[in-house]
Amino acid sequence: MTGAALWRLDGPHQTFLFASIDNRVPECVYWGAPLPARQDYDSLSAWALAGRRAPIGGMLDQSTGVALLPERSSAFLGAPGIEAMRPDGAAWATRFELVDVEAIGQGLYFVCRDAAAGFALSIGLGIEPRSGCLSGVSQIVNEGANDLHLPWLSAPVLPGPAHGAEIIDYTGRWCREFQPQHTPWRAGAHLREIRTGRTDHQHYPGLHLPAQGGDSERADPERGGCYALQLGWSGGARMVAEQTPDGLRQIQMGAATIPGERVLKPGEAHASPPIFAAYRESLSETASSFHALGRSLAPATPMQDRPRLVHLNCWEAVYFNHDTEDLLDLARAGAALGCERFVLDDGWFLGRRDDTAGLGDWRVDPDVYPEGLTPLIDGVRALGLDFGLWVEPEMVNLDSDLARAHPDWILRPPDLPQIEGRHQLVLDLARPEVSDHLFGALDALLSDHKIGYLKWDHNRPLTMPGGADGRPSVIAQTEAVYALLDRLRAAHPSVEIESCASGGGRIDLGILTRTHRVWLSDSNDPVERLRMQHIAARFLAPEIAGAHIGPSPAHTSGRETPIAFRAWVAAQRWMGLELDPRILSDDEADLVKRVIGWYRANRAFLHGAECRLLNAPKGGFAELFIAEDRSRFILFYGVAEAADATAAPPLLLAGLDADSVYECRWVNAQDCRSASRDAVHSAGAALEKGMSVSGALLMQGGLSIPHLFPQSMMVVEGRAS
Ligand code: GLA
Repeated sequence: MTGAALWRLDGPHQTFLFASIDNRVPECVYWGAPLPARQDYDSLSAWALAGRRAPIGGMLDQSTGVALLPERSSAFLGAPGIEAMRPDGAAWATRFELVDVEAIGQGLYFVCRDAAAGFALSIGLGIEPRSGCLSGVSQIVNEGANDLHLPWLSAPVLPGPAHGAEIIDYTGRWCREFQPQHTPWRAGAHLREIRTGRTDHQHYPGLHLPAQGGDSERADPERGGCYALQLGWSGGARMVAEQTPDGLRQIQMGAATIPGERVLKPGEAHASPPIFAAYRESLSETASSFHALGRSLAPATPMQDRPRLVHLNCWEAVYFNHDTEDLLDLARAGAALGCERFVLDDGWFLGRRDDTAGLGDWRVDPDVYPEGLTPLIDGVRALGLDFGLWVEPEMVNLDSDLARAHPDWILRPPDLPQIEGRHQLVLDLARPEVSDHLFGALDALLSDHKIGYLKWDHNRPLTMPGGADGRPSVIAQTEAVYALLDRLRAAHPSVEIESCASGGGRIDLGILTRTHRVWLSDSNDPVERLRMQHIAARFLAPEIAGAHIGPSPAHTSGRETPIAFRAWVAAQRWMGLELDPRILSDDEADLVKRVIGWYRANRAFLHGAECRLLNAPKGGFAELFIAEDRSRFILFYGVAEAADATAAPPLLLAGLDADSVYECRWVNAQDCRSASRDAVHSAGAALEKGMSVSGALLMQGGLSIPHLFPQSMMVVEGRAS
C-alpha cells in the first residue's frame, strides 16, 4: 500500500479521521466536530495528504504528522511514543509497518510489525457506545527471542488542537484537590509525571485543551470547542503535551516506569492503560460526556438499582476513641436525622489505638470490642442503617504482627532505608502470597459480618517500590490491586467500595471501574469542597463523589461555616455526615434533617441527570442538573466568596429545551443569607414566588441571581409546564 489509506470513527459529537501514509503507523489527521457522513473517501484522502507540509531548509527530506505512536524512524522530531531496547542495545529505533486493520462496529484495530526489531504493535480505538467518548489502548508483543525493555509506551497519541492557546491541567494537595492550572502552548514539552505510584493529589491524569484561544481562568465552560482527555490508570503516569518547534502538537499519556521495571519476556505482551477522549462544543459538554462514560464504566453492581445511601461516618466525631455503646448512640442520632448507613472508620482492628500501629492486622481488637463487631453491627442494623467499614489493605505498620511475621512482604528495595508515610509502609501485592493473605482477611471480615460497604484507603505514596525480584514494581502493584479488588467483588458482589487515599489521592477511571464512590478530599470545609467538587466534575460523574457535612470550625482548615451551607454543599453530591450529630442544636438538627429529606427525595433524579457546569461570577459555582427528556432541572448556585458586583451577570443556563416553559422556584430560600433588602421586583422575590420562563430565555437571557452572602448555596428547581 502506498499513498494514504483512510479510516474514520464517528461518535454523536465527534469524528476522527486516521490516515496511514506509505504504510506507516496511522496518524489522527482530523479530530473535531462531526463531519458529514457522506464525505467521499477520495476527497478526504486528498485532504489528509495535503495536510503534510513540504520540507524546507534544515529539515529531513520528508515531513510527517503525529502518528498514533510516533517513532524515532519517522521525520517526527518530538518525543517518541515508545522507548524500547534489547539487552544488547538493539531495537531502540523502531520502524513499524501497518500489516492489518480490522474495523469492527465502532472500533478500529491497527496491527503493525517491525520484523527487524522483533516486536508487534497493536492500537485499538473505539467509540464508547453510551458516552460517545473515544477509548484507545496500545499494546506491544515481544516476538523476538530475548527480553525487551520497554521504559515507555504511550496510549494512542492524539494531536493537540492547532488553534488552541492553552493547556489546562490539574494539580493539588491533601485537602486542596483539583486545582486547575493554565499553561500556554509553546515550543517544548509540558510534562506531568506521577511518581508516587498512585493517581495522587498532585497530578490528575487528565487535561483540557480549548480548541481556540483560551482566556485562562475567565474562560466560560459553556462556550468554545474543547478537547478533553483522561487516562484510566491508578498507578504512576506520565502525560506530555508537546509542541515541536515546527508547530506540530501531540498528547501522550501512559503508565510511568522506573528504570528496569517493564521487561517483556519472549512472547509476552504489554498494554498501555486506556485513554479516553472527547471533543465537544464546550468544556462543560466534555464533562457531560465523561459523566456518561464514568456511569457506563462503573461496576454494574450494585449501584444501578440502589440509591446512594446517606452516610454517617464516625471519623471526625470520634477518631480513634471507639466504644460500642457510644458509637451506637452516635448511630441513633444519625438515624434520627435520616442517615441510612453507619461507617466505622479507622481504629477498630488489632492494636490500632492511634496511627502508629496495627495496619496489616485485620482482626477486630478484643481490647476495644470484647464481643467483636457484631453487637455494633446488629445495633446499627436494628436502627435501619446499613453498616460500612474502613480498611487500608495495601499498607502495613512496622508495629504489627504482620510486619513482624513477614518483613519480606514489604515493598522496598533490600538494604535501603525507607521513609515511612503516616508511620506506614506498603505491602508488595504482586507477591501472590500477599494478595492471597489480604483476600483471606477481607473475605473473612465480609463473610463473618453483615457489611455493605468498604471505605478502602491508601495513605502512603509508593516511593522506593522494590519488588520481590529487586526491581521496581509500581505497574505490577497497580495490577495486583485491581486483581484483589476484582476477586473480592466477585466473592461479595453486593458490597459497595469507596476509593480513598488520604482523601482524593486515588481517583481515576481505572479505580472507578472497580469502586462505586470516591472520597474526594479529607477537607469537609464546604468552601473548599464547593470548588473541588465542581472542578472534579470536569472528569467525574458528580454522584460518585462522597460529600459530608463536617463540624464547624472545619478540622482541616479551622474555617467556621453555617450549617445550611455545609448541608447543601453535601447534598449536591453523594451525601453524608461526618460530625457528631449529638452536638447539633435543635434548629441545626431540623435543618440537616430537612436537607437530607430533600436529598433522599431528589437523588434518583440528580444521580442520573445530565450535569452542566455553568459559568458563574467569580467566587460562585453553578451546576445545572437536567432530566434526560429536558422536562425538569435543578440548579445549584454556591457562593464561596463575595461577588464583585451587586448586579452579577445572569447565569446562562444550558442544555434545556428552548421551546419549553419552565416554572422556576427557589426551593431553599430560607437557608440562604442575603444582604439585600426586600424588593418586590428582584431576582430573589421572583424566584421565591416562582416564575415561568422559556428554555430559550433561560439559555440566552439567563437567570438573574440574588446577591447572596458568601457561604450560601441556592437551589432552584425548574419544571416544564
Ligand atoms: C485517611 C482518610 C480519612 C480517614 C483516615 C483514617 O486520612 O482520608 O478519611 O479515613 O485516613 O485514618
